[in-house]
Amino acid sequence: MPDTATVNVTPLEPFGAKIALPEYANNNPTKLTDDDFAKLKSAVLTHCVVVIPDQAQLSPNDQYLLTKRFDPSIPEPKDHTGGYGHGKEFHHDKSVLRKDGCTVKDQPQVQILGQGEFAADEPGNENGEAISLTHPSHTTFHHSPLSQSEIVNDKLTRFYRWHIDSALYDLSPPLVTTLLGIKVPPQSQKNYIEYDNGDKLELAQGATCFVSGQHAFERLSDDEKRFVLNTTVEYAPHPYIFIGPAKATSDGLTMVSEGKETKLDELPEWEPSKVKKLPMVWTNPETGKPHLQVHGCCIHKLHTTNEDGSVSTLELEDARNKVHSLMRPAIAPENVLPYAWNQGDLVVFFNQGVWHSVTGEFKGVNHGADEKRLMHQCNIASGKDPVNTTAIAA
Ligand SMILES: [Fe+2]
Repeated sequence: MPDTATVNVTPLEPFGAKIALPEYANNNPTKLTDDDFAKLKSAVLTHCVVVIPDQAQLSPNDQYLLTKRFDPSIPEPKDHTGGYGHGKEFHHDKSVLRKDGCTVKDQPQVQILGQGEFAADEPGNENGEAISLTHPSHTTFHHSPLSQSEIVNDKLTRFYRWHIDSALYDLSPPLVTTLLGIKVPPQSQKNYIEYDNGDKLELAQGATCFVSGQHAFERLSDDEKRFVLNTTVEYAPHPYIFIGPAKATSDGLTMVSEGKETKLDELPEWEPSKVKKLPMVWTNPETGKPHLQVHGCCIHKLHTTNEDGSVSTLELEDARNKVHSLMRPAIAPENVLPYAWNQGDLVVFFNQGVWHSVTGEFKGVNHGADEKRLMHQCNIASGKDPVNTTAIAA
């Protein structure tokens, strides 16, 4: 029998865990004692993705407080609007993120994501006025998208963009992200992803897909491990604006190199000191294990320290090709957790330890009508960058 006086953790396959809250918390995860919160945090860092069911009533303020509690390094914001993991750039008119949601007015660290029109009084619309949401579709981001017939008739979809939630300029990647499914399509509606080698993944429509950065590292050859442990990823300045005119590969892992990126001198003002240079491997602060953590779409260069101490640099196209070869095995169907949403699920994921991707096509797929979905997302830039403390193999 589970102990209802404390947090209970049930592992999922291929990774992840389900959480049962203690009775005293009254179904509110912000009410956990310090000891029980420590258990929850340990579960998030160990299992990388955890789900707390029946949280549709969680307020944006409680979601913010819960998210912030995971990372004591987060600086106290100057006012109640501070800290969202993407900063102000999220809605820049040239950013690839600009259509990805609207902000909860009174809790701007919480974004409303989804698809469809929501009246002022609908559950989850906290803004007091009607809102219109657009689910990110790979058709606007991939170089060679599926046809509307493949989407509607064959139920095909793609990994939209494998990523880590992060501005990747100036701000540090958030430690965790919380994602609350308030209105989601039924799990019985299926989609399929076809791979370049003939593999196929079946998943619920709109599943959020996760890959473990730890497993991704473990699967590398010894030579590849040596390479990633010795390599620093330099991200582009204002990376989401940099890649704005470019298009992604069909697996959502990186960008197709056609020279379409915004020129560095045409970007909004940027400072070299704010450009993010992060190790390719981040050490899990709970388990000590190395995680391969790269945002393949936003990279600019790779800098590798050689045995003799010299540094070799791969420029944009070569860096993308290298990163793609290292990341591709990790997204094979058997390695992906395609999380199928239940209404009220609160998913907490270790953003510095997994890669994740939106999937699902919601436009015109329901006998010509659009699907509806509404979610609340929160992440807060960490107070420090992730580090690699894994001993470098000789
Ligand atoms: Fe995300």
